[in-house]
Amino acid sequence: MENLVSIILAAGESKRIKSAKSKIFHEIADKSLIAYVYSTAKKISPKNIIIVCNKKNINQISNNFTQAKTVLQNKPKGTADAVLCIKKELPKNKDVLILFGDVPLIEYSSIQRLIKTHNSSNSIGCILTFKAKDPFGYGRVETEGNIVKKITEEILANKKIKQINLCNSGIMICKQDFLFNNLIKINDKNIKNEKYITDIFEIAYKSDRPFHFSMCSEEELQGVNTREDLIKLDLTMQNQIKKKLINNGVTILQPGTVRLSYDTKIAKDCTIEPFVVIKKGVTIKRNVTIKSHSVIENCIIGEDSIIGPSARIRPYSIIGKKVKIGNFVEIKNSIIKDETSISHLSYIGDSTIGKKVNIGAGTITCNYDGKKKNKTIIKDNVFVGSNTSIVAPLIIGYNSIIGAGSVITKNVPSNSLAIERTEQQNFKKK
Ligand code: UD1
Ligand code: CA
Repeated sequence: MENLVSIILAAGESKRIKSAKSKIFHEIADKSLIAYVYSTAKKISPKNIIIVCNKKNINQISNNFTQAKTVLQNKPKGTADAVLCIKKELPKNKDVLILFGDVPLIEYSSIQRLIKTHNSSNSIGCILTFKAKDPFGYGRVETEGNIVKKITEEILANKKIKQINLCNSGIMICKQDFLFNNLIKINDKNIKNEKYITDIFEIAYKSDRPFHFSMCSEEELQGVNTREDLIKLDLTMQNQIKKKLINNGVTILQPGTVRLSYDTKIAKDCTIEPFVVIKKGVTIKRNVTIKSHSVIENCIIGEDSIIGPSARIRPYSIIGKKVKIGNFVEIKNSIIKDETSISHLSYIGDSTIGKKVNIGAGTITCNYDGKKKNKTIIKDNVFVGSNTSIVAPLIIGYNSIIGAGSVITKNVPSNSLAIERTEQQNFKKK
């Protein structure tokens, strides 16, 4: 939208979340609160995004959200003060869309609706509101027909106002001149000595240029102030992700026990068993089963494979088609090619394992020599006997067999049997 600047407020103190790090960097479904808001802002006004930061988070924000301009709010003197900080940075004649760094689940379509209401009502501004089951903590909105009369913050609300369940999301659009001409009228004479942007609504109403409002679901407009809020939103997001996948042909059994990530991709006919955790950057192709208690991160899993139960696939791994990764197997930074089987109790790290390889129970690639990580290459059709240690770096050639219990320290040529074991001796009992 050409005629718009998106502002993201992110300079608050984050006191209520009781954390060393800024609230907006806390994550839901593996993505930070502010990253959600930034993604939405990019859809609305990709060339015009300004983030209001504090001293603690400005560097991290500038480094991560490179398409946005950052502005420092020296002290967190309230949401009205935060918006005033960007005055100098604003291109002229553009409307200002205000987003909150701690209201992450707002959808692009809802903002489009807000802008539409704003334009069609020819108002000076419009806010997004919602009806809350428990409105505690939110600014309560008093309306008259389709206009906003006044918004009162929780800490300033009397009993009657507290009963109102129409809440302010904080998200609003406003004509630039009106916004700045009136923000300067807001004072900080309240318990917290903060300048509340919400004071602007009564000012607007009294000057006969009231704001309009547009309704939205509570799910989208929940804000995060406390850890409890964070966990609640995470749950909302988890449910959304799972619902989408289930409707696209994925079976997720006992979905309440499964955790997915905002970017999890799972193709049709996959089954995710209870208590599976899928972290960032995972793509699972068709007809894969992820069995219970497996933890999977930043990897690709090929068609028709079976993972787990209790398997761990770590970052930078590529698992081929019809692969079997069984219980208590850990794979890290490795390529496992088609139809290979690693069924029990193994560690495979920094390795490339060919096609149709069988890795016996308890096989370990000893990839770390105390200083650096070394690579193991196992070619197609190799059979590794149980309880084998493969001391990397080394290569095991095509069609070879490793005898069980061996400690392999040298390359094994193709079509060979390698065995490293002292001969068994049997003694008569005395
Ligand atoms: C705010 C609204 C409230 C609304 C709720 C929705 C005000 C005064 N109140 O309350 O009506 O129902 O959000 O979630 O606006 N921030 C700054 N600088 C500051 C203070 C805050 O940038 O000096 C940022 C915060 O980082 C946060 C956002 O503004 O992203 C909202 O601040 P917060 O303190 O969380 O406001 P609420 O009490 O939730
Ligand atoms: Ca908040």
